[in-house]
Amino acid sequence: MTKLGVNIDHVATVRQARQTNEPDPVWAAAMAQLGGADCITVHLREDRRHIQDRDVHVLKQTVSCKLNLECAVIPEMLDIACQIRPNQVCLVPERREEVTTEGGLDVVGNEHKVKQAIEQLRTAGIRISLFIDPRADQINAAAQLGAHAIEIHTGCYANACGENQDKELSKIALAAEHGTKAELEVHAGHGLTYDNVRPVAMVPGVSELNIGHSIVSRSIFVGLENAVREMKRLVSAHR
Ligand code: PXP
Repeated sequence: MTKLGVNIDHVATVRQARQTNEPDPVWAAAMAQLGGADCITVHLREDRRHIQDRDVHVLKQTVSCKLNLECAVIPEMLDIACQIRPNQVCLVPERREEVTTEGGLDVVGNEHKVKQAIEQLRTAGIRISLFIDPRADQINAAAQLGAHAIEIHTGCYANACGENQDKELSKIALAAEHGTKAELEVHAGHGLTYDNVRPVAMVPGVSELNIGHSIVSRSIFVGLENAVREMKRLVSAHR
């Protein structure tokens, strides 16, 4: 059964819009877990545009399912991750001017940096996932450098329509097969919604999906617990 990781960054986005203390992503994590979340995901960005250091510290103490921290491959973030020790760190590319994460991490082009990051995180006892595009060279590099998991970037699939979307789904399926053969856990995420999630959830080998914007958007109307429950039903329906 495919698991659901709920990204609660955008709860913090609303809070930061007023630089106040509500809504609290820590409350969001509790509601998401009541709705059936298997994992809580947050991205601590270098510019702290949404999630703050305090959030990650309190989530580490309060989340009872898996806690997945997304961060850039930079010394500051790796040190924070090793101090907080979430269950998993997902290494992502990060550019200050982007609205959201664009494209996967170039593991091939940053082999040395990623290798050092993996070693540091492994020593701290943290599982490592690499957010990558569905490409064989990136998957091979992830396996070779000792990552535990890959998260396949589904943004191109989410943005495509018709035949192009089918082609993008095939790339995800091939990548999932490749990753499984390389003994990597295969996750997927980015741009997934209530409308487009089912085909990805049904790809053999994909064990976990990370979804944020669509769930938090729906939660405005139906509440977060209901929004998560609805997505969990779609994600975990049998293949
Ligand atoms: N996975 C990763 C690595 C991400 O960076 C994001 C966005 O923060 C997501 C999944 C979730 O994307 P979305 O908010 O579009 O569901």
